[in-house]
Amino acid sequence: MAAKRIAVLASGGGTNLQALLDAQEAGYFDGEIVLVFSNVKNAFALERARTKGIPAIWLSRKNFDSDEAFDRELVSILDENRIDLVVLAGYLRILTPELLRKYRFRVINIHPALLPAFGGKGFYGLRVHQAVRASGERQTGATVHFVDEGIDSGLILLQQAIAIDPTWTAEEIQSEVLKIEHKLLPKAVRAICADKVEIIDNKVRLWE
Ligand code: GRF
Repeated sequence: MAAKRIAVLASGGGTNLQALLDAQEAGYFDGEIVLVFSNVKNAFALERARTKGIPAIWLSRKNFDSDEAFDRELVSILDENRIDLVVLAGYLRILTPELLRKYRFRVINIHPALLPAFGGKGFYGLRVHQAVRASGERQTGATVHFVDEGIDSGLILLQQAIAIDPTWTAEEIQSEVLKIEHKLLPKAVRAICADKVEIIDNKVRLWE
């Protein structure tokens, strides 16, 4: 089994990307991050990639006529690099149906809550944790899911919950959830790289 070729898409600071880079270096999964892509020129995620000598590619949506044209260019980058797995790690663009058709069940995303709760349009960044806090929920967590045409609506691959201390601010919830994310995302990548994930009858089957 050949090591999987991974592309990470990120728009921000990229601490999840860093967790993946560290996991790769530690030999935690049988895959190689061969490129990091961003729609944000100065995303620190790109810098993290460059530090490791990994190609860091940036495209501005402004240089394309449509989302479809932008994603078509992204698909050609993914194709050229023979990407097996696309990991969204804080990538703040919605992928087009055309891209998803081509990369069906080969794109995963990490979401900082226990989906299907606190997901969908508008639930990103600190807003997720503010909503969790306002709801009085006693637990939250992180979810890794396959990406489909909806927002945060794809099949769930892995989830991990944590108890919320009622004194926590939204920022504190965010930082506790991030710690979970940094373990959960490499774990999902590890399972996929080991071919331990199957989709049967539209359900995710994870072989331990
Ligand atoms: C994470 O909370 C992730 O769940 C969400 O965006 C955030 C990205 O953080 N999709 P980072 O850029 O990986 O630090």
